[in-house]
Amino acid sequence: MNVKESLANALAPLCSVSPTELEDWFEVPKKADMGDLAFPCFRLAKVLRKAPPVIAAALKEQLVLPDGIAKAEAVGGYLNFFVDAEAQAASVLGKVLSQGDRYGSSEIGNGKTVCVEYSSINIAKPFGFHHLPTTAIGNALYRIYRFLGYRTVGINHLGDWGTQFGKMITAYKLWGTKPIDDYSIRELVALYVRFHEEAEKDPGLNDQARAWFHKIETGDAEALDLWSKMKDGTIREVKVTYKRMGIDFDSWAGESFYEDKMPAIIQELRDKGISKLDQGAEIVDLSEWNMPPCIIVKSDGSTIYATRDIAAACYRKEAYDFCKSLYVVAYQQDLHFRQFFKVLELMGRDWVKDCVHVNFGMVSMEDASFSTRSGNILYLDDILQAAVDKTYAIICEKSPDLEDKQSAAEAVGIGAILWSVLYNNRIKDVSFSWDKILNFDGETAPYVQYTHARCCSVLRKGSDSYGTDPDASLLDDPYSKALLTAIEAFPNAVQSAAEKYEPYVVSRAIVAIASAFNKFYYEQRIMADDPAVRNARLALTDATRQVLKNGLNLLGIQAPERM
Ligand code: ARG
Repeated sequence: MNVKESLANALAPLCSVSPTELEDWFEVPKKADMGDLAFPCFRLAKVLRKAPPVIAAALKEQLVLPDGIAKAEAVGGYLNFFVDAEAQAASVLGKVLSQGDRYGSSEIGNGKTVCVEYSSINIAKPFGFHHLPTTAIGNALYRIYRFLGYRTVGINHLGDWGTQFGKMITAYKLWGTKPIDDYSIRELVALYVRFHEEAEKDPGLNDQARAWFHKIETGDAEALDLWSKMKDGTIREVKVTYKRMGIDFDSWAGESFYEDKMPAIIQELRDKGISKLDQGAEIVDLSEWNMPPCIIVKSDGSTIYATRDIAAACYRKEAYDFCKSLYVVAYQQDLHFRQFFKVLELMGRDWVKDCVHVNFGMVSMEDASFSTRSGNILYLDDILQAAVDKTYAIICEKSPDLEDKQSAAEAVGIGAILWSVLYNNRIKDVSFSWDKILNFDGETAPYVQYTHARCCSVLRKGSDSYGTDPDASLLDDPYSKALLTAIEAFPNAVQSAAEKYEPYVVSRAIVAIASAFNKFYYEQRIMADDPAVRNARLALTDATRQVLKNGLNLLGIQAPERM
């Protein structure tokens, strides 16, 4: 429990307001010498029918100060609290250093499962820059929930079904020059582009494509073989990119996986009278909720994206019994999610209240040289590589003596890219510029990583002076105190990131820690003459190193020890 929580607990019975609500009331006093936390009594004036200064004085009399609070002072309508700095320092240092890699974790999720669907790329299509937010945000949420004790299931809901695969096979049969396994994603994309160009001149190609897709659907051996080889090839290739980003999935069940699970859903919708026939198609009318109908079966008998999502949601509930099922998907699909969630509700699946569309804004690239390179498609691979190359150049300049520049460049370049979509509200559109994301002094991953490496370097140099039992009472200067307060806030940031599905809460918490550390580093001599002070400051440096590493790890970003 932090001091705010214990104060709220102690105040709650005196105010007849719940502790959780009270926690949000605390303010920071206007001046530092007025204390560390201010409790605004005017918010109680209406209920208690007394003037705020009277309430403040009365609360001061009645309140038994919890551990960690040194004193309280009634000033006007406020009750100001002074944190017991020594106790705070000892408790924060003790916690971080004893919990290590687990500092900030929790057991609140024990016994519960969260499904996180993210990335969900399409087979035989580019793994593009536009997949960056879902991939990075989903991976971060996956890690954050796992850290909080939940069992997590990461799902890549592959787009591996649909008429486009009929087109791919048609194109391959006509113009393919080597075994389909040997086609890279870019070559498959080229085949697809060619199909569309030629189909403009020869519409008959579309009939062939339909026929091929029909063959896939009905289990024709050749069609299935070509389709599954295309799929395997794509997965093999994207796994290299995922690996580079430190990402993996527990399930790769794509849209095709639900083929045999849809008939039962379609039947149930008919039996319950939820779907109806409309010009040969089966639809669910959603006009009552001001939405266009959700199409379940098209007039040609084929199912669509939404049908597969309904089947997938039911499957996940059955297979994983989730307490929450997250879909990290762009806001362009808001309507789609509202529609199929509503259909599930009409089907009586009350657990749909636990399904959350975690949406996000768009990314755009400021570097114009990129958008023209391969048509208008930005391959994520190219961007990762460019980031690593640019970082390599920066490191050569900044740290010419560093031994393994390549692996540092890899960690920092990739980290910078992931961070670019993890530092703001998800829904905010991101305009991507190299200068911004690779700024080692800005609020960036490289800045946090650099600060982490700086802590490691200080600890290497100070290893002879760093022993056990640091005396936290020696960390009583304002810089140490500010740093300890920032570190203390980390566990709550992790929980709040999970509650809001917003990894940026973690990013901001570690930027605050990094910047408090750098102030401490410049203003205080860590290697002080007094060995006890030196030991305490090294312990604080060690705690900073640890919490930065934990935070970066939650965001899926590496924390190199040297850079
Ligand atoms: N593959 C889809 C696309 O790239 C995204 C899938 C989103 N997930 C879902 N369950 N519908 O647009």
